[in-house]
Amino acid sequence: MLGPYEGKVKELLDRMTTEEKLGQLQQLTWTGDTGPGGGQTEHTEAAARAGLLGSVLNIHGAGHTNALQRIAVEESRLGIPLLFGLDVIHGFWTTFPIPLAQAASFDPAVARLDAEVSAKETRSNGVRWTFSPMMDVTHEPRWGRIAESCGEDPYLNAAFAVAKVLGYQGSADGAELASEDRVAACAKHFVAYGGAEGGRDYNTVDVSEQRLRNLYLPPFKAALDAGAATVMAAFNTVGGVPAHGNAHTMNTVLKGEWGFEGFVVSDYTGVEELIAHGFAEDGADAARLALNAGVDMEMVSTNLADHGKELLADGRISTDRLDDAVARILRLKFALGLFDAPYTDESAAVDGPTPAARAAAREAGARSMVLLRNEGSVLPLSPDARSIAVVGPLADSTDLHGTWAGPGVYRFPSVSVLDAVRAAAPGADVIHAGQEVAEAVAAAEAAEVTVLVVGEPPALSGEAAVRSDIALPAGQEELIAAVAATGRPFAVVLLNGRPLTLGSWLDSAPAVLEAWHPGMEAGHAVADVLFGAVNPGGKLPVTFPRAVGQIPVYYNHENTGRPYRPEQPHEKYVSKYLDLSDGPRFPFGYGLSYTTFTTGEPELSRTGVAVDALERGETVEVSVAVTNTGELAGDEVVQLYVHDVAASIAQPVRRLRGFERVTLAPGESTTVRFRLGAEDLGFWTNDPAGTFTVEPGRVDVYAGTSSAARACRTLTVV
Ligand code: GLC
Repeated sequence: MLGPYEGKVKELLDRMTTEEKLGQLQQLTWTGDTGPGGGQTEHTEAAARAGLLGSVLNIHGAGHTNALQRIAVEESRLGIPLLFGLDVIHGFWTTFPIPLAQAASFDPAVARLDAEVSAKETRSNGVRWTFSPMMDVTHEPRWGRIAESCGEDPYLNAAFAVAKVLGYQGSADGAELASEDRVAACAKHFVAYGGAEGGRDYNTVDVSEQRLRNLYLPPFKAALDAGAATVMAAFNTVGGVPAHGNAHTMNTVLKGEWGFEGFVVSDYTGVEELIAHGFAEDGADAARLALNAGVDMEMVSTNLADHGKELLADGRISTDRLDDAVARILRLKFALGLFDAPYTDESAAVDGPTPAARAAAREAGARSMVLLRNEGSVLPLSPDARSIAVVGPLADSTDLHGTWAGPGVYRFPSVSVLDAVRAAAPGADVIHAGQEVAEAVAAAEAAEVTVLVVGEPPALSGEAAVRSDIALPAGQEELIAAVAATGRPFAVVLLNGRPLTLGSWLDSAPAVLEAWHPGMEAGHAVADVLFGAVNPGGKLPVTFPRAVGQIPVYYNHENTGRPYRPEQPHEKYVSKYLDLSDGPRFPFGYGLSYTTFTTGEPELSRTGVAVDALERGETVEVSVAVTNTGELAGDEVVQLYVHDVAASIAQPVRRLRGFERVTLAPGESTTVRFRLGAEDLGFWTNDPAGTFTVEPGRVDVYAGTSSAARACRTLTVV
């Protein structure tokens, strides 16, 4: 991506003063009328005019970006253009489902389309860099940012990270970065942010080298292989060393082992926070530690700009390292075309969601939904129903974009479930009731069928939105129980940004649809699934615990020396709770359909393979037959898992190593094929220098439609 610009970068570097170099490492926030920030607008303009600013975040709108860009390009000494960045996590004007929902589609094309629509909207509004995709694997449903992740599995997070990076940037070689409908991506948060103790945001992460490399790092490596132009450091410590000052993760792994040529941006005041972490003495120390560990650009706090000259003078940072950081930033600015065309054509701005973009968001929403229960025949609803009650606290909500929605959230409310049901069943008498129980019960008793819309408002997930209890918010379980007590048919629609503990009401609910926060077209996406226009085919990208006390509970867990054995439920000395049934409420990879499917055994192209053959690139093909045995067309996600049953590092009982979502007509069959290579069968050890190993021994290969798959064939690695 960056090779062709070396000459231009060097020529510019040679002309820059130390102050101008330090200025390129500074990103400030915009507090104009286009978004929140820290009161830095006047300072931002002055710094741009003095040529002491590299980037600005929280700004959008070509009028605003061009005005600031003109100051930097036409009034500063060297005219180095600014790089504008913004959090476009799942949409700019057109808000797609939250990333956790998109992951539930098990269809990376959903994420790629989000990224492509978002890139076009973002770039045309003056911004050429998004702080996305977030790829923090997490086993913590209390953590609010699980909504922004792709869940608990590294392989799934990696697949979606790659899809987003390619959607934002185009080809992996960076050749499209200068085009009018691409933006630079940012792989975040580096690294292991999702491991925060207690799920409490910004909290300690103490992780072994093997778990760092087998669980948290793989999505970042995949994103970089797809050409991710930038990386953002994480707020947490990693084994006692804050990520913003962690030379092992940034210098040794990211820039050393992986050869990352882009740049690392700090998170918001993350460099300053090295002081609070108890890692830096003061601002100068924080600047030194961050720069020397691998941070290239400082977001909002100004320690590098304030103290860089003195740090250089007394040799605490080197000119080489300073030049390296500046070069990394300049290379991306050249690659984005900023030097050739620093301004945005205001007449070409995409000023709102196009019908095609809305349709894409609607389809993404429906593809992301997971049918958790469907006893009897409540779903799909009949569009000829004479009367439908739509009740619950979120029934008429238009705030369903989810956390980290883009600027569109301020201009384009979500479509409510209530309005969408009315549109989907124009002949029905649609009765609306809120959370008031008597009113809801009356509506349920008066209707043929009830849609009960409950869950979390988006404010209950996202950054700094950690819940110590992940049950439905107060009053909602009572509401469900009251509607259930009417004996009338009903379906529960969950709108939430995280796994929830689903209470005793679950068994009395004939149908439960996990709809997440589906974005701008929320209501229509829900109605498409409720009325069967879309047969739900999503799967859970995260485990649903039985109780908050069970956390952490996740599918890719170690077996322990005393695993619980379902066939021996009363066995005492095993890993279980005295007061809770074993296992999750719903496992990773779980999801139903309006039709039924069967999957066959995983047939291996060979039952044995040599380590050196794998290391030479040979693979084992695994084929799995799948049949639609029901009356309706539908989607199934065939999943492939491996378990290395005896290894020098205790291996997870399942590791996802392949998935494919297929659409089958009633009675139709197909065979899904996967390939297992060294990277699928091996694992990283605890060697800090990074040792990946494929060991001889038995590997059980599972295939099925969730992580609870039992169909198994054994592969022997020799
Ligand atoms: C926030 C988030 C990060 C975001 C940045 C800029 O604190 O941690 O994901 O990109 O600040 O808004």
